[in-house]
Amino acid sequence: MKRLTGRVAIVTGAASGIGRATAEVLAAEGALIVATDIDVGGGEETHGRIIASGGHARFLVQDVADEDRWAEVVADTMASHGRLDILVNNAGIGLGTLVTEMTLEAWNRQVAINLTGVFLGCKHVIPAMRAGGRGGSIINVSSVAGLEGAAGLAGYCATKGGVRLFTKALAKECAMARDGIRVNSVHPGIIDTPIWTRIDQGGLSLAQTAEAHTGANALSPDVIAAAGAPLGYAGQPEDVARGIAFLASDDSRYMTGSELVIDGGWTA
Ligand code: NAI
Repeated sequence: MKRLTGRVAIVTGAASGIGRATAEVLAAEGALIVATDIDVGGGEETHGRIIASGGHARFLVQDVADEDRWAEVVADTMASHGRLDILVNNAGIGLGTLVTEMTLEAWNRQVAINLTGVFLGCKHVIPAMRAGGRGGSIINVSSVAGLEGAAGLAGYCATKGGVRLFTKALAKECAMARDGIRVNSVHPGIIDTPIWTRIDQGGLSLAQTAEAHTGANALSPDVIAAAGAPLGYAGQPEDVARGIAFLASDDSRYMTGSELVIDGGWTA
């Protein structure tokens, strides 16, 4: 039996990688997906894939760092579908930059998307979940970089560590309110997605950062994982999506403020 039939989920960063896989897995579990991203082409492709598989989805353009847009996305979801049960705060970027070389602009941009975006999503979605009176599940995508430091990734680690403790504090707020809303974080290890090769403003790609610190050339997620993850290979986006689906469903009903590590043993 499908675990999420009748539920409505917002998934951010759904145009690519873990976000796309999450949107597809939640849809396969019966949820109606409001997929959002700044990447229109990728977002429309995700939407098309879900529809082609017999699922239900919409795509909305959204920059997660824009508070006004969060209010619009939540209002649109409630007006169109009448309920909101699941929020997956997945959108994120990774800037590989040494602290002494990091511009304030790059620092602020990464914080705005990876951390402020998570705060804004929770802030705007929780009132809608509470109004529904059915509780809800919020899943914030952190990282193993939110559990341990990595050279060249201090800014990224700061945002992901922030997401981890923000999640725990908010879980306690919701529990105190007895609103039935659970809030958990997910900590992927090395997952084979385009994030590794994206060249971003103010830094190297994550693969280039790993190369700079190992002296190796042309590192792929699989090579990096072979060196650091006991299982010996990179995870696939669906491996993370399945963990997110568990947290979204009632199978995890006694879990809140928890951290689900999906890292092939990286942090073991
Ligand atoms: P990805 O680069 O494939 O996908 C990220 C998506 O976020 C893209 O579609 C991008 O357009 C979107 N995005 C970027 N800025 C945005 C903004 N301002 N507003 C809305 N959407 C925006 O990356 P991936 O790997 O799928 O990453 C998803 C999440 O997983 C991120 O939070 C990342 O930090 C996290 N993560 C990824 C790991 C990996 O090895 N791939 C490991 C640990 C965590």
